[in-house]
Amino acid sequence: MRVAILTLSDSGYTGQREDKSGPVIRQMVEAAGYTVVHTELLPDGIDPLRGVLSTLCDEDVCDLILTTGGTGFSPSDVTPEATMAVVERPAPGIAEAMRYHSLQITPRAMLSRAAAGIRKGTLIVNLPGSPKAVTECLEYILPSLAHGLEVLRGMTGNCART
Ligand code: MTE
Repeated sequence: MRVAILTLSDSGYTGQREDKSGPVIRQMVEAAGYTVVHTELLPDGIDPLRGVLSTLCDEDVCDLILTTGGTGFSPSDVTPEATMAVVERPAPGIAEAMRYHSLQITPRAMLSRAAAGIRKGTLIVNLPGSPKAVTECLEYILPSLAHGLEVLRGMTGNCART
């Protein structure tokens, strides 16, 4: 499975801050057997992310897009809005699962507005911004994502049909 990793951070985009969460995601997905085909640092804002998400999905660049950052309450945190602007079929259970798991670690997990959904053959999942939060969320969802992606790509049937 091919993965794209998009980091949303104004300070990362301008080189003022090192992107630590993107490399954490890369390490975790590669350990799970995924191939990282694209990584990009993007400024905050709906339009840049919406454009990149559409292109990656419509040109079938990857099976999975993981974003990190921009899910909180700051006015510049608009990752979920950019995601839902391009999603054709929402997959709310993935973000619900991350919050369910994360709430057992910190009550502040309720402050992540992360979303997830499908456009064409690509699944998009928003992760929070910190390396700690990324690790906690990914380790919980990764095992189940594999099955969802196989169903999405027609490599296996739905749970009920197999
Ligand atoms: N989820 C987990 N698992 N661990 C965390 O430490 N931090 C929360 C939340 N989700 C956190 C978490 C906090 S403090 C915020 S503000 C939101 O994610 C949004 O983060 P973001 O704006 O960096 O995307």
